[in-house]
Amino acid sequence: MTRVFSGIKPTGHLTLGNYLGAMRRWAEVDQYRADALFCVVDLHALTVDHDPARVRRLSRQAATLLLASGLDPERCTLFVQSHVDEHARLSYLLECVATDGEMRRMIQYKEKAAREQRRGGSLRLSLLTYPVLMAADILAYRTDEVPVGDDQTQHVELARDLAVRFNHRYGHTFTVPRATPPAVAARVMNLQDPASKMGKSEDVGPGIVYLLDEPDVVRRKVMRAVTDSGREVVYDRESRPGVANLLEILAACSGGNPEELAGVYESYGALKKDTAEAVVEVLRPVQQRHRELCADPGYVEGVLREGARRAREMARPVVDAAYRAIGLLPSN
Ligand code: TYM
Repeated sequence: MTRVFSGIKPTGHLTLGNYLGAMRRWAEVDQYRADALFCVVDLHALTVDHDPARVRRLSRQAATLLLASGLDPERCTLFVQSHVDEHARLSYLLECVATDGEMRRMIQYKEKAAREQRRGGSLRLSLLTYPVLMAADILAYRTDEVPVGDDQTQHVELARDLAVRFNHRYGHTFTVPRATPPAVAARVMNLQDPASKMGKSEDVGPGIVYLLDEPDVVRRKVMRAVTDSGREVVYDRESRPGVANLLEILAACSGGNPEELAGVYESYGALKKDTAEAVVEVLRPVQQRHRELCADPGYVEGVLREGARRAREMARPVVDAAYRAIGLLPSN
């Protein structure tokens, strides 16, 4: 059976980008067709300035929202990264296979490093090695497919390279994974700045729709989305990025296709109105289930405990095999 692994980082409130680019497919498709693991990657949240209490709160919230979005613990394994030591164990071995140059070429590293340097802050070493830990997440489970949004495909490519290199040098140990981005909404853009991604770690802004935004807040954000100078509704990501973003969001929420939807609308106002309502409708059941789950925190904790137990069982033999292959003396 195909093994699927994906993760989400608790560095901010989850957004519509996370949902349309990743989470929704995990719940609607992946958990039914594959042996799937989904992980709240809290160790990754420590690679930038962080408040410990906030990371704990956001980790719990991310797990609750994943369940609210439809992940069924009977069908998939949901767990928190730091509960399974194998991720950190394997990350070190992969640091011994990856190169410094590879890390510095990562687009997300370059962007985050530039932002941090503008602020005058220093960089955590873990920010540089972030993609190695991500490769460890993926390779520890002999993952075949990694359902992620567009922004993560370069990191998955690196995981592939490291798997191939390790296998070549030390004998076949890892499955070589591949990224599987969604057909629509692979990169949902910020409503106020359609040149940048709608990202949860960015500053809170009117251009970001959060999964827990009230319906009226969603409507206001979508109605105020920046559109382009023309008047006609056409789907062109290059010359009309604002309108293209709305069309993609609408398509992802209503099941249509962005090119066809463009032909249906005569004004930006009508497009925004329908997009806002489509987003509100997609979020409604998630928010409803989230409220119910918040009333039962013991349930969420139980799911995470059992998820970690199962994940550990799967990862342990793979990471042990990597330890042996690379030349470490067995401990028993
Ligand atoms: P993260 O937490 O930034 O995002 C989680 C998932 O949401 C997708 N996503 C988007 N998709 C479309 N449009 C957007 N605006 C948007 N914003 C986010 C991301 O592509 C991702 O699929 N490094 C990863 C977490 C990670 C991981 C892993 C993922 C750590 N280890 C192993 C897969 C496998 C990250 O920061 O995702």
